Amino acid sequence: MSRVVVSNHPLIQHKLTLLRSATTEPKKFRELVREITWLLAYEALDDLLLIDKTIDTPLCPMVGKELAERVGLIPILRAGMGMVGAMLEVLPMAEVWHIGLYRDHKTLAPVEYYNKLPVEPTVQVCLILDPMLATGGSAVATVDILKRWGAKRIKFLGLIAAPEGVQRMQAAHPDVDIHIAAVDERLTDGSDGRPAGYIVPGLGDAGDRQYGTG
Ligand code: PRP
Ligand code: URA
Repeated sequence: MSRVVVSNHPLIQHKLTLLRSATTEPKKFRELVREITWLLAYEALDDLLLIDKTIDTPLCPMVGKELAERVGLIPILRAGMGMVGAMLEVLPMAEVWHIGLYRDHKTLAPVEYYNKLPVEPTVQVCLILDPMLATGGSAVATVDILKRWGAKRIKFLGLIAAPEGVQRMQAAHPDVDIHIAAVDERLTDGSDGRPAGYIVPGLGDAGDRQYGTG
């Protein structure tokens, strides 16, 4: 079964509260998405393989370490885009392969609209980036796409999950670890007149809040 790593780091929890607040405007919201991603990335990449590398320090030769694996960042459009900058600060040599998915408003099923993955996998580790794991449909569909592509090691990095999304991902892809800042209470069911499929308490629509739309 995959690991679900929920960060309890005080900095992450502090920034997450600011992110959730309805009064946080898009500029601050984007900054917080970037900062939380940066902090989560540190933990999410803790099992990357290393190889020895001999260098000369100003004092003497030594055997250091360097990353042995190529990492691909897979942001799910739109909202995952806000996480890419932070990841590229941590991993400047990563490749970025965008997947475009939106949720059908009635069925909540993911609809694919952009995919320019090359024919053959070019990376050893794929890190899916999306702030929200709600029903799990978008994340599961993205892992499906990556596995059909031939990806072998896949991780999911998000900010807030619903229990339903975590369960769906684990059932569909028990080999994919989930790194997240919080697992919230539930999803809206549409019974109170609000749209169904939103994480409660959540933060609303991550794409709209980053880009000032909606
Ligand atoms: C949001 C979010 C995820 C998806 C999560 O995207 O960024 O991709 O919903 O929901 P799920 O787990 O139920 O699939 P949305 O479809 O709103 O598109 P957007 O990023 O373009 O706003
Ligand atoms: N997508 C979002 O942006 N927010 C949610 O709460 C659920 C899906």
